[in-house]
Amino acid sequence: MDKYVITGGNRLVGEVEISGAKNAALAIVPAVALSDEICCIENIPDISDVRDLIDILQAMGAGVHHIDRHTVEIDPRSIHTCEVPYEPACRIRGSYYLIGAFLSRCHQSLAPLPGGCDFGVRPIDQHLKGFTALGCEYSLENAMIEVKADCLVGTNVYLDVVSVGATINIMLAAVKAEGLTVIENAAREPHVVDVANFLNMMGADIRGAGTDSIKIYGVQYLRGVTYSIIPDQIEAGTYMAAAAATNGDVLIKNVIPKHLESITAKLEEMGVEVIENDDSVRVRRSGPLHRCNVKTMPHPGFPTDMQPQIAVLLSLAQGTSIITESVWDNRFRYMEELKRMGAQISVDGKLAVVEGVPSLKCAPVKATDLRAGAAMVIAALAAEGTSTIEEIQQIERGYEDMITKLRRLGADIYRKVDPASMNVRVG
Ligand code: EPU
Repeated sequence: MDKYVITGGNRLVGEVEISGAKNAALAIVPAVALSDEICCIENIPDISDVRDLIDILQAMGAGVHHIDRHTVEIDPRSIHTCEVPYEPACRIRGSYYLIGAFLSRCHQSLAPLPGGCDFGVRPIDQHLKGFTALGCEYSLENAMIEVKADCLVGTNVYLDVVSVGATINIMLAAVKAEGLTVIENAAREPHVVDVANFLNMMGADIRGAGTDSIKIYGVQYLRGVTYSIIPDQIEAGTYMAAAAATNGDVLIKNVIPKHLESITAKLEEMGVEVIENDDSVRVRRSGPLHRCNVKTMPHPGFPTDMQPQIAVLLSLAQGTSIITESVWDNRFRYMEELKRMGAQISVDGKLAVVEGVPSLKCAPVKATDLRAGAAMVIAALAAEGTSTIEEIQQIERGYEDMITKLRRLGADIYRKVDPASMNVRVG
């Protein structure tokens, strides 16, 4: 398999452009299936998870026309099945949005159970609770889930845990249901709002997205629209962390600074300068990193998807920091890799105690999941010597052109192609 080879020590300096949000795209692409007309989606990130999802819709009959690398026109009118193909849907977590979308479109969906990053149990009971409340029945067989309803009727759903996926999925299923659906204890992430904005532009009537109570008044027809996906909050946060880790000075462009507030606040607490502009942030570090404690929370709290990247910074900070992971059960697996680079961390359940060290050292490491992979890249950029990172397909599920973007900032990073995988590609 291919690897990244990174020689650390270079300060990152310059400008980087952030791509469209992965987790918004993973919901908006399936949401096109609800439309009664052609939709054009702009600012789509060119990453493998999103490419896979577009391929799935195409395999189900949708007309797909790639206008350019980041713009795709999708015609859902020719979709002829509600059966989601097993491959590649089982690989991507976001494939669960096809369930809500196809329930809405044809009151029926047969889909593989979702894949994606492995950090413990990833239940979908809250999605199913919402579908059931809307009048659906479901069954599970051979890693496939079938959900169907004679008709979908608006209802009240209280989510027992704040779940991004369940909030969006129930919203999708309720858009064309009869009457009013209310989701209480809803997730407030920027991509929840982005999906609601997309649906509303098509003619849906969704109110309150971005708060913990979302009201969805069912409508019958959704028209075709052109819609531009928001910038990726986590990709932006990752480059902010990379700039800070390398003593850098980077202007991160095409961002919504409001979405980055919790990340900005932590970086500032650590002594990093963050200057907010209208649609960019400049991250500059010139002194030592200070310790701080980080607790991941649903939005507007500190995002769990930035926990591994901030852990690298805390590894290089003066003093002892505590990280509390309160969203996922098992998101510290990558710490064994970070420890191989000299980080001093002890993990106890959902708590990690990080003793700052003066520097990290190079090592061969692997990307245990998407954000863990991003953290390994940051650690290698800051470390002394040359590191290699394996399992980079994890990283490429969610980061567009990471090598190119980092090289433009002065990083010494390249992809070492595995001759065996070249044969596979040629064949
Ligand atoms: N949960 C349940 N039941 C459910 C759904 C979730 O108990 O039915 C629990 C989960 O076990 C977890 C918590 O609720 O403890 C939050 O899960 P959530 O449903 O919000 O996560 P998700 O929708 O599966 C999305 C992102 C993740 C991100 C989380 C949390 C997508 C495709 N994925 O996952 O992103 O970590 O929200 O913000 O949108 C990533 O991009 O690297 C990534 C993993």
